[in-house]
Amino acid sequence: MEINGRTRTCGLIGNPVEHTLSPIIHNTLAERMGHNLVYVPFPVEEGRVAEAVAGARALHLLGLNVTVPYKSEVIACLREIDALAQNIGAVNTLVECGGGYKGYNTDMEGLYRAMRSEGIRLEGESVILLGAGGAARAVAYLCVVKGAERVWMLNRTLEKARAVADEVNEKTGRDVICPMRMEDHHEIPAGRYLAIQGTSVGLAPRTEEAVIEDDSFYEKVYTGFDLIYNPWETRFMRLVAAHGGRAYNGLKMLLYQGVIAYELWNGVQVSEEDAQAVYDRMRERLGQTENPTDRA
Ligand code: ATR
Repeated sequence: MEINGRTRTCGLIGNPVEHTLSPIIHNTLAERMGHNLVYVPFPVEEGRVAEAVAGARALHLLGLNVTVPYKSEVIACLREIDALAQNIGAVNTLVECGGGYKGYNTDMEGLYRAMRSEGIRLEGESVILLGAGGAARAVAYLCVVKGAERVWMLNRTLEKARAVADEVNEKTGRDVICPMRMEDHHEIPAGRYLAIQGTSVGLAPRTEEAVIEDDSFYEKVYTGFDLIYNPWETRFMRLVAAHGGRAYNGLKMLLYQGVIAYELWNGVQVSEEDAQAVYDRMRERLGQTENPTDRA
């Protein structure tokens, strides 16, 4: 693509941003869809988010993604905020709107679309959610908003799970999230569960760890979805697969959060064919050619 006087710029603010895969997502889509757009990472120092957003406005950037550690801090810099992002309290996408930016959380819509693309539903599902940190809290909202029947939220620290469950149940007006101490998982009633792994356990370099090891837990899991994609196949995923379940990593969530941001910025619909092409490039970048679900 030729960069010229009409090229629009999108970017990522965060710290650090060096290892991001987002440029692959947006620059591949721009190339395939014929949009005159470039996407670049912008490292932003602590305490300078408001300046960065004001600068983006002044430079008329088409949109921004926001990553760690600024997803909450950036909210104060917005003109408008989408309802789901407001409830979650985290924004990862800024879209130009009359003299400022509107904030969205495409991480969660991205997770939902990734699940749908694999044929996984949340509507009416019994879910086991591992973790009660920032990521798991957002997933808890998504589960309730999308109509999950019951979510067992397991966490090492029970108080944190309790606090998140109380907040999500109260804000959504539904009593869906049940907090539980991780080691009490055997108290979950027998059944077939979708398990979502939202802790940081298993993340490289500590790839030989899973937050639960017991066979009796994995026997209840028919599908496991790990938010981690580095390593490509986490120990949690291997345990799910070893007990006959299907296991997915978090790369499609990353893909679709980007696809949705791209759609918001450009007012377009990205086809599944284009999304798949982006996914293939992301996998290549990670040195992966085999799909973990091929073995399930
Ligand atoms: P994120 O923003 O990625 O969600 P976080 O808010 O720091 O990160 O949350 C990390 C999650 O991983 C928490 O649920 C944490 O459990 P605690 O609330 O008990 O701290 C969980 N976690 C991290 N290390 C863990 C470990 N070694 N064993 C069990 N859970 C762990």
